Amino acid sequence: MKSVVDILDLSVKEIDELLDTALDIIDHPAKYAEICRGKKLATLFFEPSTRTRLSFEAAMYELGGNVIGFSSASSTSASKGESVADTAKVISCYADIIAMRHPKEGAPFVAAKNASIPVINAGDGGHHHPTQTLADLLTIKREKGQFSGLTVGFCGDLKFGRTVHSLITALCRYENINFVMISPDELKLPGYVKNEIPQGRGFTYTETTDLEAVMPTLDILYMTRVQQERFTDIDEYLRLRDAYILNPEKLVTAKKDMIILHPLPRVNEISVAVDADPRACYFKQVQNGKYMRMALILKLLNDAKGGKAEDKEQEGTYLYDFKCDNPRCITTTEQELRQVFRVVSPENRICRCIYCDTKKRY
Ligand code: CP
Repeated sequence: MKSVVDILDLSVKEIDELLDTALDIIDHPAKYAEICRGKKLATLFFEPSTRTRLSFEAAMYELGGNVIGFSSASSTSASKGESVADTAKVISCYADIIAMRHPKEGAPFVAAKNASIPVINAGDGGHHHPTQTLADLLTIKREKGQFSGLTVGFCGDLKFGRTVHSLITALCRYENINFVMISPDELKLPGYVKNEIPQGRGFTYTETTDLEAVMPTLDILYMTRVQQERFTDIDEYLRLRDAYILNPEKLVTAKKDMIILHPLPRVNEISVAVDADPRACYFKQVQNGKYMRMALILKLLNDAKGGKAEDKEQEGTYLYDFKCDNPRCITTTEQELRQVFRVVSPENRICRCIYCDTKKRY
């Protein structure tokens, strides 16, 4: 059963097909209005959401299907200690496809391994958020026409910003992209994401703390919220939360056709006065998210109908003698899960947790 836990679960060809389907849905909504009649989407949201959950639900209704689900863990048997694996097996008896958000990194991966229906990761901790990336890609395609040849600035919380991680991973499969990472030192992009950026194919990578210095160079400015819920030290959050506040004055030197993206919700990192600027595309991004989720639901249900086989286990060497020390990893709360690390760099003796991607030396 094909699931989408990481944006890399979709090939470039599959992403192109999803973009084409989404554009066709925009042009011909009536053609899709009954296409999922009799199908059920289960939205399993163990963590708060406005856009992702409601856009999944709107997407399924606009395809003619139905929705079951929950919007917090407290009303489910997870509060009695039911595991993610058991939850996935149970929901497979009721629904045709799952969209899951969970605070623990790797939870949707565990669900996908145990469900007999497709699972879509709707955000897991600070790890992945592939359907936000699909929304981002459709917005870039509609606004800029292409993915290659762009200078893309990411600004704010690049450490915990899962939407940033997933979009960088997706863009790395194109070419000639200049990444400009703008953050305080404490919120820099994690090494495991930075290491994915190719050394050739026209990619460049710059880190800075100074948004205004790089503003004139950018084709895309992707703003992010400093994520209070990921901090263990509240004082550090309070010190960093207002590091970057985009306002009309700071946009004076920006290109006339630069686009401003933000996965939302915003707190105060983009002032409301920016909303009137034609370069502000973050509400278009919200709308595009619904179309891409419609396209993805359709694709995964069609693949399941066609009996498309589960993606094969990644080949490689696996190690079982280590404990993941990421406090946000699903293995920290689901003790029965077997700890598994995949060797990613034998020469440097580095392996990576298969659930949350945390690296370890062995
Ligand atoms: N962008 C995003 O994931 O928003 P929600 O948290 O509201 O779903």
